[in-house]
Order: sequence, then C-alpha cells, then structure tokens
Amino acid sequence: MAMTDITFVRGFIHMANEGYLRGWHERNGGNLSYRVKPDEVSQIRDYMAPRKWAPIGTCVPGLAGEFFLVSGSGKFMGNVKEDPANTIALIEVDSQGENYRIVWGLEAGGRPTSELPSHLMNHEVKKRVTNGAHRVIYHAHPANLIALTFVLPLDDRTFTRALWEMATECPVVFPSGVGVVPWMVPGGREIAVETSRLMETYDVAIWAHHGLFCSGEDFDLTFGLMDTVEKSAEIMVKVLSMGGKRQTITSDNFRELAGPFGITLPEKFLDPQ
Ligand code: 13P
Ligand code: ZN
Repeated sequence: MAMTDITFVRGFIHMANEGYLRGWHERNGGNLSYRVKPDEVSQIRDYMAPRKWAPIGTCVPGLAGEFFLVSGSGKFMGNVKEDPANTIALIEVDSQGENYRIVWGLEAGGRPTSELPSHLMNHEVKKRVTNGAHRVIYHAHPANLIALTFVLPLDDRTFTRALWEMATECPVVFPSGVGVVPWMVPGGREIAVETSRLMETYDVAIWAHHGLFCSGEDFDLTFGLMDTVEKSAEIMVKVLSMGGKRQTITSDNFRELAGPFGITLPEKFLDPQ
C-alpha cells in the first residue's frame, strides 16, 4: 500500500479536488490541513523520512509533537489528485511547537502553505475548545462570499445575519455564526492571531476581500460548511442584484428553530439593532 492509499490521505485528496471543481481554488489559491490521529500516525511511520526542522513562524505549544497533512505553498489544489506526492506534505511539529519538519511529500521540493501559521493557530484553538474533536482547517477563495465583503459592513453580526437569512439550514449548520477579519496582509503571524481569536467562538472566519477559513471534525463536515456558506453568499448576491430583500427570516423565526433542531443561537445575533 502507498501513502496515498491511506484513508485519511485519500480523504484529503478528495476534498482538495472537490474544492477545485467548485471553482474555489484559482491557481494556487486556498489551502488545507488535517491533524492526524494517533492511530493514523502509527499506521504511516514506515513512510516517514524526516527532513530539516524549519520555523513555523509562530508558536503553537498546544500542538507539540502532532502530525499534519498540509497542502504545499504555491501548489495548485487542482493538481493534488493527479500528483499528491508533489503537492502535499506530512509535517511533524517539534516538542516546543515552534518548528516543523516535512516527513513525507513535496518530493520535488517546496514548503507547506504560506498560511501555515493561520492553519496551526486555528488547529491549536479548535483542539482546545472542541476537546480534540476538530481536525480539519480549510481556506478557500469562493467568489460570492468574497464579493459580499465589498458590499456589506465588515462585522460579525452583519455577515452572520446575512448568511443565516439566505438559507434556513444555515443557522443549523453554523449556529455560532461567522467572524470577520478586516483586510490584512496574508501569510503571516498577525493575520493568524486575528483569525484564531475568531476561531475561539466561530467555525467560520471570513478574510475581507480574500476568502475564508472553515474548521470541522472531518473532511466532509468542513467541506460541507464551506459549501453551505458559499451557497448562502451566492443567494445573497442574487438577492442584492434583484434590488434587495423584500421579506426575510425574522429573529423570532430563528428562535423557533431552537426546539426542533436543538440549537441555541446567540442572542447577540437575534436582538434588534
Ligand atoms: P499558498 O499557495 O501558500 O497555500 O497560498 C495560497 C493562498 O490562498 C494564500 O492565502
Ligand atoms: Zn488565500
């Protein structure tokens, strides 16, 4: 069996390709990471050939000693399915949470995504707040969601309400809402700090005029979250293009979802403004 036949590696490859097929990954846009489970790590020890340690660019002590499957910087998500060994990598985090080393993949050279600080800081937060349940962090560039960041005020409440109101399933899929990071330089620690701060509360963090990050327990749920957010954004774009809302789902309607769907929506998003 090859590394690329291992179940979680296949899941990663499948998801990267699905996102590409959706049009969310122009050129090298977007990136994906998966926190490998301990039993999966022991399954793949034989494939590992550690390279040199390199700085992560931030500090993630909560992830010391963990392994991540990550997409490569500058690699095209559309090529992952055809050529996984050259487009993705398995990395190990050191005992301080300050350095990483590639142990498999990126065979022709390269390094993990430039958004590694955001991925790992998000993983660190999500590992803590979900008691280890969340394992996938996904960054994409879907057009409708990005378009909304040029039109709607850039705050959590506006985006949460806009997205919730465009599809009844939205508050069920992301009941805690979405957070918004104003435009920032991508690729470094600063934007990672802002994004991971939002991940304390939300599973979705929007990067104004750039894209968004989603977090979830597995590949399907995280992809489904991205898909639901972008579908809702697409409806919002159509509604705005038709002159705006004439009617919508009300705060009381949202409160009615609580019983049948077992969700509690934060009152800060239901209160009249
Ligand atoms: P990478 O190619 O380094 O993953 O960067 C793509 C991207 O979307 C940056 O935000
Ligand atoms: Zn990006």
